[in-house]
Amino acid sequence: MRFEVWTREISRLNVDCLVAGVFEGGELPDETRQIDKASGGRIAALTQRGDFAARNGDTLLVTDLPGLRAKRVLLVGQGARASLSRKLWRRSVFAAVSAIARTRIGSAAFALARPASSDLDDYWLARATAEITAAALYRVNDLKSGKKPRPAALARVLAGPVSASGAAAARRGFTHGAAVGVGIHALRNLANLPSNVCTPSYLANAARGLAKRHPKSMRVRVLDERAIRRERMGCFLAVTQGSEEPPRFIVLEHRGGKAGSAPVVLVGKGITFDTGGISLKDPPAMDEMKFDMSGAATVIAALTVVSELDLPLNVVGLVPTCENMPSGRAIKPGDIVTSASGQTVEILNTDAEGRLILCDALHYARRFKPAAVVDIATLTGACVVALGAHHSGVMANDDSLAHELVESGRRSDDRAWQLPLTDDYADQLKSNFADMANVAGRDGGAITAGAFLGKYTKGMKWAHMDIAGTAYLSGAQKGSTGRPISLLSEFLIQRAAR
Ligand code: BES
Ligand code: MN
Ligand code: ZN
Repeated sequence: MRFEVWTREISRLNVDCLVAGVFEGGELPDETRQIDKASGGRIAALTQRGDFAARNGDTLLVTDLPGLRAKRVLLVGQGARASLSRKLWRRSVFAAVSAIARTRIGSAAFALARPASSDLDDYWLARATAEITAAALYRVNDLKSGKKPRPAALARVLAGPVSASGAAAARRGFTHGAAVGVGIHALRNLANLPSNVCTPSYLANAARGLAKRHPKSMRVRVLDERAIRRERMGCFLAVTQGSEEPPRFIVLEHRGGKAGSAPVVLVGKGITFDTGGISLKDPPAMDEMKFDMSGAATVIAALTVVSELDLPLNVVGLVPTCENMPSGRAIKPGDIVTSASGQTVEILNTDAEGRLILCDALHYARRFKPAAVVDIATLTGACVVALGAHHSGVMANDDSLAHELVESGRRSDDRAWQLPLTDDYADQLKSNFADMANVAGRDGGAITAGAFLGKYTKGMKWAHMDIAGTAYLSGAQKGSTGRPISLLSEFLIQRAAR
């Protein structure tokens, strides 16, 4: 996909299609007025006839308007002018790209009205256009045997209008947005795969493939079960012991920053299928537990973005990955194991497995003397109850790190919300038989999970992101959302710039 800015008069643009906004009630934004004027009032005539309601996301393709170089104009409803927000703007771009994807249009110039708020500047216009284009063109890597629909013809997207002084910022936005787009595809492709395809070894091979594409900056190491045992990751081993499928511990390193400068370490939960183990889950929607490796896919995708952009930053990705299965060899409630940190854990519920694989990975992170550690995990149903599908949960032992992540989410429209990780919650994890239990009852379940991880991150700047509600959709729209790759990319881009 090629991205460019447009600055000149829109009626003279040499593209297959102009994408023009219309407000509810027929009011036309400036650029659409120009197109209307050049074509002798044909758009105003059309809206006055009442044939286009212009609800946000409505689209109508009109062809062969006079006075334009472009053969087609895609009218896009932007709703009422007064209620145009960033979110609605994004939706209208998404709707436009989706409509274009069903045509033979190869190049399109976007001229939608931007919300008045000044934070959608030229950089963000370009960045968001590139990200949304990628998201809208994503086709699930399904395993249906029928003929695949033909891919969209769209290969060139122009965004604007951008003033001469904003062109450089916009170009930077396109570069960043296109890389995030690659990350979105990488994440969704991995997360959507079924667990019989996307095994721990499959994830390890995906990481190896990524490192191979960037031999100068990227290194990968994959620990097998023996190596994991040598690291004394007793909690991780306890989760995997009920499975036939062998576990992997993936270490990806992007060396973009100064040699020896402290890296950002990302840790992703890679449960390729979560049955709950002996504390078996209920059957309804259990298939969705193939998405329980979304954190792992996010980490691999984030390193994809980082290496696409060759960010001047050291970034380490850690992925503990295995299945959570019941079997004659599986861990049982009440079993006590020793984590890599030496702390003992009484496993009261085998379905609280994510924290068990993460605590050993977080301990492993220490050896990198990280500037910051961020783990990403579909960790608790409680977080879905608390925040729904709109915000990812953020918990941290460092408020400025939490704030950085929440702000990155706000800027990239991939939002997150901080939950209070005070000592009170850690106290709920007391066990009579071990240093801690792995569960603490129902109340505050998202936070007690965070508090468990907090016992392994003392002395490091650490944040935990619970993406159980945001990583994927259920029902008719079932599938990975690509979140929180935009948030994390923004976080890393900002870190690289400072
Ligand atoms: N993978 C689940 C969390 C989850 C639930 C993700 C729903 C997405 C949607 C996790 O391993 C889990 O089972 N957590 C338990 C913890 C409980 C046993 C303390 C949960 O949330 O029920
Ligand atoms: Mn579980
Ligand atoms: Zn899980």
